[in-house]
Amino acid sequence: MIDIEKLTALAIAYDAGDAKRIQHFIKVYAYSRLLGRREGLDEHTQNVLEAAAVLHDIGIHEAERKHGSSGGHWQEMEGPAVAAPMLQQCGADKRESERVQWLIAHHHTYTAGEEKDFRILLEADFLVNAYEDGMTAEQCKTAKDRVFRTETGKQYLEEMFLKPAYQAK
Ligand SMILES: [Fe+2]
Repeated sequence: MIDIEKLTALAIAYDAGDAKRIQHFIKVYAYSRLLGRREGLDEHTQNVLEAAAVLHDIGIHEAERKHGSSGGHWQEMEGPAVAAPMLQQCGADKRESERVQWLIAHHHTYTAGEEKDFRILLEADFLVNAYEDGMTAEQCKTAKDRVFRTETGKQYLEEMFLKPAYQAK
């Protein structure tokens, strides 16, 4: 089992000075945790998913440093090598570490797989990005078919972005 609290502390320290990125991955972690539990993931899969959520964007700083871009492709490429020693410090065994690294390496590739942990990570990241990037209802509607698979994820997307905007009375 991976120690998620310790991993989160390491990731916050790694991203020190970049509050925006820290806020982002904490939110993706929270949605992954909620979705995984509501969707009945077993304890081990849930633990690996939560670790991947914390670390999913950990490659951004290296991507910017080496390639001058935080583009999804570079993040996917640089993330696993940054994540591996952190995972080891937090008690991940080889299989767990490999799975987290795979999830990091594909989290912008919507067609990479249909496993539930992977789809939940994509959904959680989308829910956060939709808000942070101010996506339109049309973009969210398209994503509902293209990205979302779980009932809980679709419900959250629907309630946050596809219902009429809340108006104070
Ligand atoms: Fe992200």
